[in-house]
Amino acid sequence: MEIKAVIFDLDGVIVSTDEYHYKAWKSIADKENIDFDRTINNRLRGVSRAESLEIILEDSNKKYTQEEKQILLEEKNNVYKELLKNLSSLDILPGVNEVMNYLKSKNIKIAIGSSSKNTSLILEKIELSNYFDEVADGTMIKKSKPDPQVFILAADKLEVSPKNCLVVEDAEAGVKAALNGNMKVAAVGDAIKCNKATYNLDKLINLINIINK
Ligand code: BG6
Ligand code: MG
Repeated sequence: MEIKAVIFDLDGVIVSTDEYHYKAWKSIADKENIDFDRTINNRLRGVSRAESLEIILEDSNKKYTQEEKQILLEEKNNVYKELLKNLSSLDILPGVNEVMNYLKSKNIKIAIGSSSKNTSLILEKIELSNYFDEVADGTMIKKSKPDPQVFILAADKLEVSPKNCLVVEDAEAGVKAALNGNMKVAAVGDAIKCNKATYNLDKLINLINIINK
């Protein structure tokens, strides 16, 4: 099936924000005396901010009210945004620019499909705001990955049928979301371990071989 569009996840695929998310959540968890480590952090990949908090609170004995949760979500995002101040185009992950330039040269559309509500801020910081044909992000959806909503929205905006879309993901939740949306999916990084993707890429640059198949 011909690939007419590639939809990229943002965090962990285009840019490495993982450490910032980890540090921000860690500061909240420490303040609340909740155990939080990188293993738990891995479960937050691709998952919305509010759902991430629910996962973190699984390890707490305290029952949090909606108001208290809301405060924690705001605190986390404030710490995260403070850390994002350091972000620049130097944080774009290896192979990203090469792959995207290649796709453009082949007239294959490119979009972002991210759960993050900070997508436009991040794209601005890494100087890729005007680079994608379309952006679908956490501010535009009701259901988070593994629901396919964000990818379906990206495909709709691009006017490309899901069956002609290839998603690139670093999270198991994102791989499932793409498959749930009847799209093909290439796993990078942590997502390779789940062994559910259509393709596993040890390096993003190998995406070019899939397109040429
Ligand atoms: C995803 C990240 O891209 O965005 C998750 O992988 C994060 O870790 C989610 O929780 C929501 O991000 P934000 O920026 O809206 O808090
Ligand atoms: Mg990701």
